[in-house]
Amino acid sequence: MSKQNLSAGDLEPIEKASLDELRALQLQRMKWSLQHAYDNVSHYRKKCEAAGVHPSELKQLSDIARFPFSTKLDLRDTYPYGMFAVPMRDVVRVHASSGTTGKPIVVGYTANDIAMWSRLMARSMRGAGCTADDIILNSYGYGLFTGGLGAHYGGECLGATVIPMSGGQTEKQVQLIQDFKPTVIMSTPSYVLTIADEMIKQGLDPSKSSLRVGLFGAEPWTNEMRREIEERLGIDAVDIYGLSEVMGPGVACECVATKDGPHIWEDHFYPEIINPETGEVLPDGEVGELVFTSLSKEAFPIIRYRTRDLTRLLPGTARPMRRMEKITGRSDDMLIIRGVNVFPTQIEEILLKNPNLCAQYQLQVSREGHLDQLDVYVEVRADLSDSIGEMKRREIGAEVKHHIKALVGVTADVHVVETDKVERTLVGKARRVIDRRPK
Ligand code: DLL
Repeated sequence: MSKQNLSAGDLEPIEKASLDELRALQLQRMKWSLQHAYDNVSHYRKKCEAAGVHPSELKQLSDIARFPFSTKLDLRDTYPYGMFAVPMRDVVRVHASSGTTGKPIVVGYTANDIAMWSRLMARSMRGAGCTADDIILNSYGYGLFTGGLGAHYGGECLGATVIPMSGGQTEKQVQLIQDFKPTVIMSTPSYVLTIADEMIKQGLDPSKSSLRVGLFGAEPWTNEMRREIEERLGIDAVDIYGLSEVMGPGVACECVATKDGPHIWEDHFYPEIINPETGEVLPDGEVGELVFTSLSKEAFPIIRYRTRDLTRLLPGTARPMRRMEKITGRSDDMLIIRGVNVFPTQIEEILLKNPNLCAQYQLQVSREGHLDQLDVYVEVRADLSDSIGEMKRREIGAEVKHHIKALVGVTADVHVVETDKVERTLVGKARRVIDRRPK
């Protein structure tokens, strides 16, 4: 693994390029990627033939809209290796995402793909304010999940020191923070709050630790949650985005100087926003489903992949590459409760406006007779847990119920509970919704 030993000020040439230069590079790479997928993945070739398009017809970037979408279903149908574009002897690693139903999605990487991913993770971390001088506590899960190894290789590529802790064993996480004095933490946003709770339980002040920056992703989180993390831990909390099918973490990342939504590393991934119902491409600034085409991946090229993530594209600020607005949710996360559309992040925003509550929450939906019932379970802040009794908790619950009704338009029973009463998952991605309604 080559170390870049980058400091925060060292930008790659493409991070300073003009938009014309960036678009020219994208077009050249997109032509290559489409042809590569067409020539080497029979599934893509058949889909193109069925749609009556050929890679040679791509003359400008917007021509990509003529090519067919791909979805999780394509990856399931070709399980495990059917979408690989190189022989297995050239694949040096696979990852898999478990998904909620059915078989996992399997993705593969050549040595060049791993090097590119590591560089993009290093770029993300540098934008978040990390340098070769940092010590990184990597609390993303190692294994089939892309979070652990993605962050690990990125940290090494940056030249930083990586502590390969993985997720879980919260007491040990706290011990390592105390003893190894990491300056950076990488975990899901919900898990870093679990670590902060554990510190409080041990009589430590989370805001006094050695940590100064965190890169959080793998699940949706709001700016209210960012504020909570920053205040409680005394760090800069930066949003990092990615998905296994497209690469893993580091497809996009915020810059610490602006914290205004992740910059998409457009020199390697071409984003589109579509209307999820019609598939029509929407102009920048409009909210819809995010779609990606990889521009340089060898083992697992992905063409117009529908992420299900809802966001919009915004112009570049700290970098020339476009930003994506912080994700509000996935189209498959949206609940319809008594006819009202509800995203868990909408509830999160309201919960965190109350200074007594923290971001450990879960929505449980059931059906009583013909009516949907929404129960929201939320924990009081760990540092206030002792001073807030049951009466006060009920009062807070009633107040929050009122806000949810007024702002989201849905009736919810809000149960304010003690620390640790809301489920924590092993992989670190919070399970925000349990829907027990009959399908
Ligand atoms: O979660 C990769 C990752 C690891 C990203 C570590 C960031 C940090 P998957 O398990 O395939 O990959 O899940 C991908 O997670 O489609 C989004 O719905 C969600 N997601 C990932 N990052 C964010 C984020 C990894 N920053 C799915 N904000 C994606 C909101 C996110 N949602």
